[in-house]
Amino acid sequence: MLDRTPDPTDLEPIERASVDELRALQLERLQWSVRHAVANVPHYREAFAAAGVHPDDVRELSDLARLPLLTKAHLRAGYPFGMLAVPRAQVSRVHASSGTTGQATVAGYTARDVHTWSQLMARSLRAGGVRPGDMVHVAYGYGLFTGGLGAHYGAEALGCTVVPVSGGMTERQVQLIRDFSPDAIMVTPSYMLAILDEMERQGVDPASTSLKVGVFGAEPWTNHMRAEVERRLDLHAVDIYGLSEVMGPGVAMECVDTKDGLHLWEDHFYPEIIDPVTEEVLPDGEEGELVLTSLTKEAMPVIRYRTRDLTRLLPGTARPMRRIEKITGRSDDMIILRGVNLFPMQVEELILRIPALSPHFQCVLHREGTLDEMTVRVERREDASADDAATAGAALRGLVKAGLGVTVGVDVVDPGGIERSVGKMRRIVDQRATR
Ligand code: DLL
Repeated sequence: MLDRTPDPTDLEPIERASVDELRALQLERLQWSVRHAVANVPHYREAFAAAGVHPDDVRELSDLARLPLLTKAHLRAGYPFGMLAVPRAQVSRVHASSGTTGQATVAGYTARDVHTWSQLMARSLRAGGVRPGDMVHVAYGYGLFTGGLGAHYGAEALGCTVVPVSGGMTERQVQLIRDFSPDAIMVTPSYMLAILDEMERQGVDPASTSLKVGVFGAEPWTNHMRAEVERRLDLHAVDIYGLSEVMGPGVAMECVDTKDGLHLWEDHFYPEIIDPVTEEVLPDGEEGELVLTSLTKEAMPVIRYRTRDLTRLLPGTARPMRRIEKITGRSDDMIILRGVNLFPMQVEELILRIPALSPHFQCVLHREGTLDEMTVRVERREDASADDAATAGAALRGLVKAGLGVTVGVDVVDPGGIERSVGKMRRIVDQRATR
């Protein structure tokens, strides 16, 4: 793999600022953001009044903990434009979350917000090893989802040649990669796997393509998956995080030179970790739910938004800004199986330890009598025989029992037996209610 570390002189001054300089900037911006939200959005006015707090109470960054939390339910209650802090006519773009678990939530952006987002995406791409002049194949979906357009604007802002493919038409994805020779690809990790399989089906050696960097996000993926993708494609696989309520992709980004978690762009977002049950703020290093406050957003400021994403805050390495550890999952994705809590990503990690198993899998929840059961449906690899598959299934059952402390069923299916997704992959199939 080629070294893709950015030239330190290309970094923005704030990426090299001291922690003290950063904290001073954050406080100034936080005070503006809180005032802006309370002055212009009825929800914040009411929530602050109910909690007995006022924007003037924010004298230090730690005062943030006194302000009320914001949840997806609040955003839904304001559907579609109730959370805007500027007149609708000043909104130059809207996006929306998919709404698979309920009503969609809408995000609005002023022209300046779109500019800030593009600059943060450009910064993210540079940190991830993409360079001006590179060709970038964007296979995140374009549309209300923030992935495609967020990636597109950021790559353009960095000075790249953008190929706006969007998701789907996997054969053509491979054709375009062969014909255009892009340097980087931006796609969900699960759809990358589908593209990889298609390359192999077409007789293309994935390691021989022009791709040098893969910018993967929008869903959880493990370091084991990183190893798999880097080995098969011979590229740097880096993680990008974001969410539409807060902006879109580019809230936090993994640096290609360290690949040790994602630096959160703290000049625009202030992170806290809370205990999801008590809502108490936890010290850095402890695992809990990520809460984000926007510091510069005009159209839709978010003050203490509960992301539901579970992670920890770690000190900076490649940059002075703090990192979040790779997201283990959303609290909504936690499976509670006969009292044991587990996440699909823990299963992915175990699957990838077994050579005969592919990373295509789903966790199927069903009910046998009164007991909840889980079956891991996983594909065998193309080169694994039926015998290998049976041994691998037993091995996975053993690893899950030993590692996660729970007995599950394992169903090893033939290649292609698990549905492919062109965007975010559905890892949990819950059949309990339908039985
Ligand atoms: O998924 C934004 C995005 C697009 C991020 C492209 C990265 C790349 P939403 O559709 O609003 O926005 O979904 C946000 O996806 O709260 C996390 O649960 C999950 N998520 C996003 N990035 C990661 C990641 C986009 N790198 C929700 N690792 C978030 C784990 C992620 N989960």
